[in-house]
Amino acid sequence: MRTRSRILRANPSIRSLVAETTLSANDFIVPLFIDEGRQVRTEIKSMPGYYRNSLDVTVSEVKELYSMGLKSILLFIKCKDELKDNTGKEAWNKEGLMQKSIRAIKDAVPEILIMTDVALDPYSSYGHDGIVKDGEIVNDETVEALVKMSLSHAEAGADFVAPSDMMDGRIGAIRTAFEKNGFTKTGIMAYSAKYASCFYGPFRDALDSSPGFGDKKTYQMDYANRTEAVKEALQDVAEGADIVMVKPALAYLDIIREVKNAVRVPVSAYNISGEYAMIKAAAKMGWLDEHKAILETLTSMKRAGADLIATYFARDAVKLLEN
Ligand code: PBG
Repeated sequence: MRTRSRILRANPSIRSLVAETTLSANDFIVPLFIDEGRQVRTEIKSMPGYYRNSLDVTVSEVKELYSMGLKSILLFIKCKDELKDNTGKEAWNKEGLMQKSIRAIKDAVPEILIMTDVALDPYSSYGHDGIVKDGEIVNDETVEALVKMSLSHAEAGADFVAPSDMMDGRIGAIRTAFEKNGFTKTGIMAYSAKYASCFYGPFRDALDSSPGFGDKKTYQMDYANRTEAVKEALQDVAEGADIVMVKPALAYLDIIREVKNAVRVPVSAYNISGEYAMIKAAAKMGWLDEHKAILETLTSMKRAGADLIATYFARDAVKLLEN
């Protein structure tokens, strides 16, 4: 034999020297769910160990996350039912929960990078990401709403907006509005390839944002498609996206790699709620080693080409990496 591949696997020292992929706190974006009230901490039923917190609790949590070396958060809010309508107008209320949260968190932890979800679903009485007319999710009017929403987040101090709605042309419209209004330092992380996925189920529990009718297949992508993801990512970059995202992650590692090879901007992956729930459930049954499963799946996303990973496991992963 001229080649013995096991030489490079013989012991931990050589394995660590030749490891092609490593994880660190710098890789992670922490999604946070914010609720009205004070001292509220509600565990999400289908996401054991993950909570929806009131703003005061969230601020303390962000301080802790930052002290652990985590540098970025992605905010979602739970909108009260009485504020939901078909226009989604609460989404750009200057005194809305999202806008208040951005200001309070920036005030308390100025160094933390705040990213905000931009889509109408938490605010929509129909639970859709856009405005509904005659049973259809209309594109261009929705884009106008998303622009107002993005401007209000930028004004409140968000570092990045993260449009997750999959309407056509929204990245260009948001970038143009930012330029016109002097928000030349606000970034856009585009959910470029967001698939219509059953794995969002637990997230919709967290925000009570399930679609009231139909599904999201007329705007989110068909999971049968790969070329289309590259097209979407290239288009978002051309329209002004600073970071592009692929979502979900685990069943879409091929898409992460394909997009990574095609674009010259950082690629983010979203390790979504259903992926979290699967590991939690199997671990609870004693069928999987939770800690090993967390590190193996996160490493697979990075290996696939993700420069950043939004994950509910960020805190666990940082602790595991320390040991
Ligand atoms: C809303 C949005 C969703 C997620 C992020 N932003 C749900 C959806 O599109 O229905 C899912 C995140 C997760 O499942 O962890 N536009």
